[in-house]
Amino acid sequence: MSFDIDWDNLSFSLTPAKTMFIAKCPIGGEWSDGEYMPYGDISISPGAGVLNYGQGIFEGMKAQRTKGGKIVLFRPDQNGLRLQNSARRICLPEFSVEKFVEVIKKMVIENEEYIPPYGKGSLYLRPCIWGTGAILGVSPAPEYTFIVYASPVGQYFKTGFKPIKLEITTEFHRAAPHGTGNVKYIGNYAAGMFAARQTKEKGFNEVIYLDAREDKYIEEVGAANFFCIKGNKLLTPKTGSILPGITRKSVMQLASDKFGMEVSEQNVSIEEALSADEVFCAGTAAVISSIGSISYKGKETIYNNFNVGTVTQKIYDTLTKIQLQEIEDPYGWVVVVK
Ligand code: PLP
Ligand code: COI
Repeated sequence: MSFDIDWDNLSFSLTPAKTMFIAKCPIGGEWSDGEYMPYGDISISPGAGVLNYGQGIFEGMKAQRTKGGKIVLFRPDQNGLRLQNSARRICLPEFSVEKFVEVIKKMVIENEEYIPPYGKGSLYLRPCIWGTGAILGVSPAPEYTFIVYASPVGQYFKTGFKPIKLEITTEFHRAAPHGTGNVKYIGNYAAGMFAARQTKEKGFNEVIYLDAREDKYIEEVGAANFFCIKGNKLLTPKTGSILPGITRKSVMQLASDKFGMEVSEQNVSIEEALSADEVFCAGTAAVISSIGSISYKGKETIYNNFNVGTVTQKIYDTLTKIQLQEIEDPYGWVVVVK
C-alpha cells in the first residue's frame, strides 16, 4: 500500500503501483481495447516469442507532482512515437500514439496515490510490447501483449546529485551499425549487463560505450545519452546506433534556444570527450547527471574537480523547471494529467 512507502528514501527500484494495463493483438490483427487491472503476475507460454527470441520493446516515462499541486507528464507523445519506431524494427504491431497517451494518462490517475510528493521522486511508467504467442521457429510470434505498469522511483544513480564516475569500455560494444541500438529493444539491455557489472565491480557507476565500427567515438552511457560542453559548444553523438533520447532532443533545443549554444550532433571522439570542459548524460531515469570523471585504458580524467559544471547546472535547472511548471514551457512539452 502506498502509505508504507518511504517517500524520503526512494531509489530506482520496483515498488509496483496498484494498477496495470494490458491489451492484446493477434498477428496481422488489431489491438483489443485493453483492460486496467490489479498489478500482478501474468501467465505466459514457455514458447512465447519474447522469452525465446527476445521479441520485445519498452519505453520509460515519468509522472510528477508540481509545487502547484498538478500531476504532469513530459512529452508522452514522443514515447508513443518511439515505441512505434521500435515496434517496426522488432516486427511487433504498432500501437496508436493517441491511444498510448490516453492509456498513460489513465494509468497515472489510477495510480495517483503512488506518485511521490513534490520533490521526492516520480511515478515511473513502463510501457512494453512483447511477442507473447508461442512460436518454435524463428519468426514473429502469433500474438502480442501491450502492457503498462508503474512504480514510484527516486534517483537513478546512487550518488544522487553528485557527479558520477564512468569508464569507457574497450572490451564490449552496446550496438552495431544497422543493429538495434537506435530502438528501445529489450535485448540491448541484456547485452549491456555484463559490461556494466564488470565496471561497477571496479567502483564505477556505469559504462560508456564506443562505436562498433571504429572504436573511436563515444556512443552513449548504459541507459542515457552523452553530452560534452566545450566553451559555447554542446556536442552529442550522432544517432545511428544510439537511442534517440527524448531528454537528449529536449536538451539540444534548450541549449540552443535558451543559452544560445552552438549545438552539434556529430561524431564525438574519445579525445574530444576527455578534453571537454563539462560532460553529462541525459535520460528519463538519469535526468541530467553530471559526469565527474571518465576512465579510459586505466587513466582517469577528472572534470571540474568533481563538481557539477555551471553550464550543466543551468541546463539541469531549466529542463527540470520546465518539466515541473516552474518556468514557462514555450514548447508545449508538459502535459497536465490532473
Ligand atoms: N539511451 C539509452 C540506452 C536509454 O535506455 C535511455 C533511456 O530511455 C536513453 C538513452 C535516454 O532516452 P530518454 O531521454 O528518452 O529517456
Ligand atoms: C529510462 O530512462 O527510462 C530508461 O529506460 C533507462 C533504464 C531504466 C532502462
